[in-house]
Amino acid sequence: MQPQPDTQISVEQIRSQFPALDRIHNGFPVAYFDGPGGTQVPRVVVERMNDYLYNHNANTHWNYPTSHETDRLIDEARDAFADFFNSSASEIVFGQNMTTLAFHLSRSLGRRFETGDEIVVTELDHHANIDAWRALEKDRGVNIKMLPLNIETGELELDVLTGLLSDRTRLVAIGAASNAIGTINDVKSIVKCARDIGALTFVDAVHIAPHKLIDVKDLDCDLLACSAYKFYGPHIGIMYGRRELLEEIDFPKVKPAPDSAPERIETGTQNHEGIVGAAAAVDFMASLGRGNTRRERLADAFALIHERDVRLTEQLWNGLSQVGGVRIYGPKFDALRTSLVSFTVGDHKSRDVAAFLADRGLFLSHGNFYAATVVERLGLAGQGLLRAGCSLYTTADEIQRLVEGVREFVVSSSVAI
Ligand SMILES: Cc1ncc(COP(=O)(O)O)c(C=O)c1O
Repeated sequence: MQPQPDTQISVEQIRSQFPALDRIHNGFPVAYFDGPGGTQVPRVVVERMNDYLYNHNANTHWNYPTSHETDRLIDEARDAFADFFNSSASEIVFGQNMTTLAFHLSRSLGRRFETGDEIVVTELDHHANIDAWRALEKDRGVNIKMLPLNIETGELELDVLTGLLSDRTRLVAIGAASNAIGTINDVKSIVKCARDIGALTFVDAVHIAPHKLIDVKDLDCDLLACSAYKFYGPHIGIMYGRRELLEEIDFPKVKPAPDSAPERIETGTQNHEGIVGAAAAVDFMASLGRGNTRRERLADAFALIHERDVRLTEQLWNGLSQVGGVRIYGPKFDALRTSLVSFTVGDHKSRDVAAFLADRGLFLSHGNFYAATVVERLGLAGQGLLRAGCSLYTTADEIQRLVEGVREFVVSSSVAI
């Protein structure tokens, strides 16, 4: 059981747990706005990974203490993710990252697809959730259909969905939230439409995972994947799969490896320290909330995260929109969205603006973030987007510094206002 804080945790208490926040760059304290690309890691996560490597390091399923301890720690990590997703431990699969898990799944599921079968993906997605399925065009003769993005609203054209579905649709693969422009999709309705015609569903939950507590039972999806490094953990991917599916899908595996799920899906020796660290990240998030069970503490913590996300996004959105020459993309701050704000400054390359801001200790990602279709549809393939993401450790002062930094860029360069 994790200790239960009596009162809501403050941002200072959260920040004190992240050594990376002590970094100074060019005399400026670093403000990390690159959370959607990967968050910083709290001390407790690193300590648990160190402890594993120093004291329990072994391969699995052998008959001596460190191997037993490794088995136990991996089981405990599956329990942590069962709580994180509202699933059961036997439905949790670990892997290198979301992209590798998606390709593994596509190769395996693809074995049951035939020429002319159809998969629906969306224009709003990260390419991990487009190209993993696109690979089946060549390999299995599957047709890929794209649910379009409305570039004015930053949302998917959901009314087109039913027209894209047919009796040949085998899978609908959708992102829960856009890592490029922050849109949160109505996954539950999309899953329902897919289920009504007997198609499977795969959800890319990478960008939603740090912002909204996932509930696979409520979503009713078949498969879902995310990455711990987006929610204060190490670089590792996690996949949920409905138990019967994980048992039944024809995953390529080596003969001596276990035949039962979830281990039959996990090829080779896993990243044990990463698995331990990912579970520690779940516990870290749960430690920010109150409740009797880990799931309850997570729900409470995510309520806090949501409240902070809304407040910081509004400040970021309003601040940036008052800077001449700045254009913001995606749904407005009061719509269903995550706490990132993507923008351009005049026609300046996002890379150049990012370098200017970095000199002032403001670290932002830029480019297309592998959501290349979104950025192309916005007409920004050459220029790229700047992406400012708010994380648990982001403060109102840092946002103020960012807005001032962008303003300084506008003044020092010839941005047409
Ligand atoms: C929405 C989304 N999907 C998928 C991915 C790919 O995740 P990974 O790096 O774990 O393969 C990312 C990474 O940025 C992402 O933001």
